[in-house]
Amino acid sequence: MTKTSRSYTAIVAVAGLSACLGALLLALPVNPPAGDAFAQTAANKSSKAQKAKPAALPQISDDVDDPAVWGKLFPLQYELYLKTKEMQPTKYGGSIPTPHTPTAADPRTVTSQSKSDADAGLRTMWAGYAFAADFREERGHAYMLEDQKYTKRQVVVQQPGACMNCHASTYLANKKVGDGDIVKGFEKINAMPYSEAVKLVQHPVACIDCHDAKTMALRVTRPAFIEGIRAFKASQGIPNYDVNKQASQAEMRAYVCGQCHVEYYFKGPEKRLVFPWSKGLKVEQITALYDEIGFRDWTHKDTGAPALKAQHPEFEMWSQGIHARAGVTCADCHMPKMSYKGANLSDHWVRSPLLNVKNACLDCHKKHDAKITEKELKNRVEQIQDRHWKLREDAMAALMGLIGDLKSAKEAGKSDADLKTARYLQRRAQFYLDFVEAENSTGFHAPQEAARILGESLNYARQGQIAIRDTSFKPTVAIVDIPPPPPAPAPDPAPATR
Ligand code: HEC
Ligand code: HEC
Ligand code: HEC
Ligand code: HEC
Ligand code: HEC
Repeated sequence: MTKTSRSYTAIVAVAGLSACLGALLLALPVNPPAGDAFAQTAANKSSKAQKAKPAALPQISDDVDDPAVWGKLFPLQYELYLKTKEMQPTKYGGSIPTPHTPTAADPRTVTSQSKSDADAGLRTMWAGYAFAADFREERGHAYMLEDQKYTKRQVVVQQPGACMNCHASTYLANKKVGDGDIVKGFEKINAMPYSEAVKLVQHPVACIDCHDAKTMALRVTRPAFIEGIRAFKASQGIPNYDVNKQASQAEMRAYVCGQCHVEYYFKGPEKRLVFPWSKGLKVEQITALYDEIGFRDWTHKDTGAPALKAQHPEFEMWSQGIHARAGVTCADCHMPKMSYKGANLSDHWVRSPLLNVKNACLDCHKKHDAKITEKELKNRVEQIQDRHWKLREDAMAALMGLIGDLKSAKEAGKSDADLKTARYLQRRAQFYLDFVEAENSTGFHAPQEAARILGESLNYARQGQIAIRDTSFKPTVAIVDIPPPPPAPAPDPAPATR
């Protein structure tokens, strides 16, 4: 925590000068544990790329978000960035191009595969919620805006402008709408209907969202991350944390991704996008916050449980894993340093590392174990994922058991008081399972943590089943009262908002 992105700014400004190398060495991130040479390789690698930056730094205006304009100055990064259009599956990840007949409502000719159609368990888990209508495998960044516009989740519910925070280049929109103040713009856009907000943006996540236009230094532009990480740091005893001033260069290589790849909720009628980290990043800490504020995403249609939906907590899960502990960041595996058309740069083709094992894994692991091969590393990932999937299936079966039992008990006329314990345990079992299900690495980012969460999920589901049969049963967690949701303002059939 000694280096700031400011010093990086200074470095970039002198890039190309002969003094540059010395300055770089001084400014290197020291985030990885000192003395851990293996982990330091990430840092060393980025120093090389900084050295390779163009001699005279061309100027881009902070009011231009079109990546094609930035691409004129950095054509190779732009070329790679455009490749996020390509679709290719891996055993559990990537994505499969799926033909779609264009309609007026949804003009896409290709989508990714549906997950909610493929897995009846997911639909049962989300009964009564928009996700049961349409949930697909995620694909490359190039598609983020269109996939959000055309998901059926926009049809079954009126979504808020807050959705847009993570699906478009919003930096300029926030700046314009807020008269230069991105937080004000953020607040105004969150509260708009999605259909209006979306008119303010044109591009999927773009250069300007991760880079300072003048210096190309990494920066965090999303108010929700700025506020979320401040709340998290405060929980660790660090008050008033300012991510753009205090984060190390290595941390920024994860934080730029943490602007979107995180669990979130919309707070209050103003639909403020909030990352629920004020008690910590772990699933039980997030659950504790939702319990404390009495938050529910929706009421489960079959059982009446006050349910929660987890969303892509890649950042949170990564932070619990061995790579995070060793200072290895999202960019190390998903945007690895590479040699491309004679230049040494960061791969802006953000995708599954399993399609890119040499650059993403091997180059670093070779330093530790000269004999290791691409095949072996890939096998180790798939072994982790296969084990994870088996446990995930067991947890899903247990949850289906609980939902089935609760539904029968409700139909048999059991009272709300009788069902309270089992409903709360459903909320918990379901959120824990969804937390690792919605996390897109199939366990890899933090294998042991993912297994722990699935084990707890399974335990809650089975305890819920016992609680239905035996009203004197004392579960291992305290049962929390979740108040009924406030009455919906409009006669909207579905109360869901995300
Ligand atoms: C040590 C390497 C490593 C690090 C660090 C890492 N990931 Fe991953 N990530 C992986 C692997 C391996 C997968 C599994 C890919 C697959 O199944 O095809 C994955 C999967 C993903 C996926 C789904 C990709 C797909 O094709 O389905 C996303 C999204 C993702 N990671 C985001 C992140 C974010 C955000 C961070 C940082 C907070 C991060 N990752 C850190 C290695 C890494
Ligand atoms: C999601 C965030 C993100 C987006 C979007 C993004 N970059 Fe980057 N970019 C990074 C990261 C991370 C690095 C590595 C920075 C480091 O640690 O030195 C990087 C590095 C760079 C560098 C320094 C040289 C190198 O390749 O390492 C340039 C130049 C660059 N990006 C240009 C662009 C351009 C042009 C665009 C738009 C077409 C773009 N970036 C979009 C995250 C992003
Ligand atoms: C502005 C929000 C945003 C930022 C910033 C962002 N992502 Fe994403 N990312 C998304 C969305 C949204 C999708 C899914 C797009 C879709 O399915 O249409 C996605 C998809 C992905 C995928 C899946 C690609 C595939 O082929 O399946 C990976 C991997 C990924 N992101 C990693 C990263 C990493 C690493 C970073 C940081 C360098 C990052 N993302 C920054 C929003 C973001
Ligand atoms: C920048 C360096 C770096 C990159 C890139 C990287 N790793 Fe690692 N990896 C590490 C370090 C450091 C450790 C922790 C070693 C330790 O502490 O024992 C580790 C640990 C692991 C472990 C766990 C070993 C164990 O016994 O628990 C696996 C598996 C692994 N890495 C696979 C991968 C894969 C697959 C990729 C690419 C998707 C990858 N790594 C990318 C540095 C890296
Ligand atoms: C905090 C950032 C964030 C917000 C806010 C957000 N998304 Fe996403 N969204 C992502 C990321 C990251 C992905 C890719 C990972 C995944 O699909 O799990 C994604 C994927 C998607 C996808 C493609 C996969 C799927 O689920 O079918 C759709 C559609 C989508 N989001 C719609 C929405 C809608 C509608 C809203 C508002 C209710 C919303 N998003 C709000 C970050 C966000």
